[in-house]
Amino acid sequence: MKSHPRKSKHEPLACLILAAGKGTRMNSVRNKVLHTLLGVPMAAYAVERARDIGAAAIVAVLGHQKDEVVQVLGNRFGPGAVKVVDQKDQKGTGHAVRLGLRPLAGFKGLVVILYGDVPLLRTETLVALIEAAGKTGSLAMLTSVVRDPTGYGRIVRDDAGMIVEVVEHKDANHAQHRIAEVNAGIYAAPVEFLRMATAKLSARNSQGEYYLTDIVARAAASIGVISVDVAAEEMSGVNDRQQLVAAEKILAARIVAEHGKRATFRAPGQVVVEASVTIEPDAEIGRNVVLRGRTHIGAFARIEDGAMLTDAVVGKGAHVLPYCVITGATIGENAKVGPFAHLRPGTVLGPDVHVGNFVETKKTQLGRGSKANHLTYLGDTIVGEKVNIGAGTITCNYNGFEKRQTIIEDGAFIGSDTQLVAPVRVGKRAVVAAGATIIEDVRAGALAISRVPCKQIDGYADRLAERYPKKASGKTSGKSSGKSSGKISG
Ligand code: UD1
Ligand code: CA
Repeated sequence: MKSHPRKSKHEPLACLILAAGKGTRMNSVRNKVLHTLLGVPMAAYAVERARDIGAAAIVAVLGHQKDEVVQVLGNRFGPGAVKVVDQKDQKGTGHAVRLGLRPLAGFKGLVVILYGDVPLLRTETLVALIEAAGKTGSLAMLTSVVRDPTGYGRIVRDDAGMIVEVVEHKDANHAQHRIAEVNAGIYAAPVEFLRMATAKLSARNSQGEYYLTDIVARAAASIGVISVDVAAEEMSGVNDRQQLVAAEKILAARIVAEHGKRATFRAPGQVVVEASVTIEPDAEIGRNVVLRGRTHIGAFARIEDGAMLTDAVVGKGAHVLPYCVITGATIGENAKVGPFAHLRPGTVLGPDVHVGNFVETKKTQLGRGSKANHLTYLGDTIVGEKVNIGAGTITCNYNGFEKRQTIIEDGAFIGSDTQLVAPVRVGKRAVVAAGATIIEDVRAGALAISRVPCKQIDGYADRLAERYPKKASGKTSGKSSGKSSGKISG
């Protein structure tokens, strides 16, 4: 989805992303934050939010599978875009922040603390948090009133309603357990305060950890604490696979709701649209459609049920019929694809092209108005305009060692069940007769025919029946008619 760059002009911003934990409840060999939601690794969501708010520096505190996380973030945001701190022993969130501040030597401004496992947090919420901290110079924190506060740090307020401290669930007394306002764990505060406050933390608590939450009481007694409301859904962390897919569903729903203002989704709850997809107004998306990567859907295009498009560009008014798999392909305006077509990378269909059922294409261009309607494989092929490719045409593009090219020029007609043994060229308006194996270039306007003469042996069925009397008894006997001569349309 679109990013929302920060509008307000505050001090410079830095972001810390805490993600050193393993995520034990995932029961995975992979670190929790490497698991993906809508094709994006969990850790990247926090980095994207940090970018949205215009953070000048982004520091990730990593531990478990640090190198893998660094690589995933490097691939996505560029090497070095996220500074990394190694927290070998996870001694608590306070310890993580203390380490995370180290690469920010010389930085002056606000530090925003994010988690690697909270992918539903919205940019708007962070903007409100930063504004609260910027305006007041206080520690700003996100809090939420939730139905079940179990496990969360509780927000303790005084009689005047001011935040006094945060008490972790495991350290809370009976009365505190009943507090429904919880700590989201996301804060914005001046860097000097965080340096000072995290340096003074102690681990004298039920978990023997350096609690970041202890900075709240310190802020209450000095720079002040201000809370910003956050919806429970947004602050919820992903700890296990059920929560992962639940969060993914919410993200998908948000994306579809946004596109759904301009395009029609016939079954909005049953499609997957990744954030990087773009959709023009008046497109129509069917049931169980999956749109991934850099897919672009043009205006008035129709994507029918069950189609899966990855990095595909669909032109204006094009029509993708049910159950197509389209990857790295471009579909021209008003072209028609499927049902059950497989367009692979490097496919470029011109305007008004028709590619029908059980047709596979790879590194293949089809020029304006050309048709390959049934059961065909076209690989490494350039097809001109207004070419008709009959059912069962196969380009034999691979000789076991290398891929070779087929060229079919404008207006050519390829009869059904043809093999084109590449490299080969069929000239303009040439006609290839059905059943041909083409191993040499076909001259423009010529007929190419390669056929074994057909031989007929009369009475053969009766001979077989005599040889296998038992099996033949169940079958219909009688003479078959000759070749039909009727003209069939369709
Ligand atoms: C923390 C808060 C709690 C809040 C909750 C919200 C503390 C002490 N408690 O609790 O008040 O309600 O978040 O979800 O801060 N991490 C590190 N290094 C560490 C420890 C944690 O990087 O040494 C990372 C984890 O990978 C995780 C995040 O910090 O992404 C939060 O840690 P977690 O242990 O889940 O904190 P909670 O106990 O949930
Ligand atoms: Ca947590």
